[in-house]
Amino acid sequence: MTAIQRVFSGVQPTGNLHLGNYLGAIVNFVKLQENFDCMYCVVDLHALTMPMNVWGGPEGLVRTTREVTSAFIASGIDPKKHIVFNQSQVSGHAELAWIFNCVARIGWLNRMTQFKEKAGKDRENASVGLYDYPVLMAADILVYRATHVPVGDDQKQHLELARDIAQKFNNDFGDSIRGNGFNTGLFFPQPEPLITGPATRVMSLRDGTKKMSKSDPSEYSRINLTDDADTIAQKVRKAKTDPEPLPSEEKGLEQRPEADNLVGIYAALAGKAKADVLREFGGAQFSSFKNALVDVCVTRLAPIATEMKKLMADPGYVDSVLIDGGDRARAIADETIRATKDIVGLIHKR
Ligand code: TYM
Repeated sequence: MTAIQRVFSGVQPTGNLHLGNYLGAIVNFVKLQENFDCMYCVVDLHALTMPMNVWGGPEGLVRTTREVTSAFIASGIDPKKHIVFNQSQVSGHAELAWIFNCVARIGWLNRMTQFKEKAGKDRENASVGLYDYPVLMAADILVYRATHVPVGDDQKQHLELARDIAQKFNNDFGDSIRGNGFNTGLFFPQPEPLITGPATRVMSLRDGTKKMSKSDPSEYSRINLTDDADTIAQKVRKAKTDPEPLPSEEKGLEQRPEADNLVGIYAALAGKAKADVLREFGGAQFSSFKNALVDVCVTRLAPIATEMKKLMADPGYVDSVLIDGGDRARAIADETIRATKDIVGLIHKR
């Protein structure tokens, strides 16, 4: 096996794909296609870790899996040049997760803040899968021995865990790794998080201190990728602001989370730096800035929503993309699983 530079990332099919997912992740997925072999995965097994009402039950899961796939394609991901698939089609993810379960330590998982947030107060009632979520995530990445992982800021800790698991596996099985012909002793790479762009953490439109999230009960907290122009305009106009006009320098955004968030969104969508946006709008009232924000949102997002709608109307095509991607992903994963079994000492058919 030769080590290559490979990008892997995943998005959960839990509905309400939003501007945060787009700016924090998907925009970067699109850019990275130029320089890397990329794999973009709809992580349906991860969706199952939440209660069924979150992912909508079996029919909901099928629909949202197609929706995320459509969003990938509509945003500019090329499923012929790169690999787009859903996680559950490749059994290597779950197989490697089991081996990693025996490498990762309980203490490491106990430190995961996202588990604490998602489990809420009733931790005893959270699924075992939710607790184990970051281990499956490490397996997603490492079953392809991926080297780069574009994600939003909220996934940083999970990426650190993936790096720790890769390192511990390489240490624990170092002799066997070398004995199996990997002379460097580094079977799994240390995957590097790519947390880039002006909007790695997009905040709620209702509360600038809270992350924009799929699970926020208020529709006005987020712009969904499926929103039409009128809905986008309504949500932006209702977005929370403060009474001051916009500052003309970035330091004027400190202690003004809502203003900071809206300026960040504008900058990301317009492809500008925040400082440039403030140079243009410094001193303006929010009412006029919001008009400009609606324009840039609609210009960037409405074509994606239209294309998504078209794709969603052709589930046969969307499924064929996933199946073709699944076949190509499986070929890579199977190779890693065979080598991992040799390294660990698990007998398998040759
Ligand atoms: P998920 O489905 O919650 O989110 C998908 C991507 O969107 C980013 N994101 C945000 N970025 C900026 N601002 C926000 N408000 C915002 N909300 C979400 C996330 O950081 C993510 O990049 N655990 C992952 C899915 C996953 C994965 C993987 C990712 C499973 N296996 C392997 C990378 C590699 C998640 O929950 O994504």
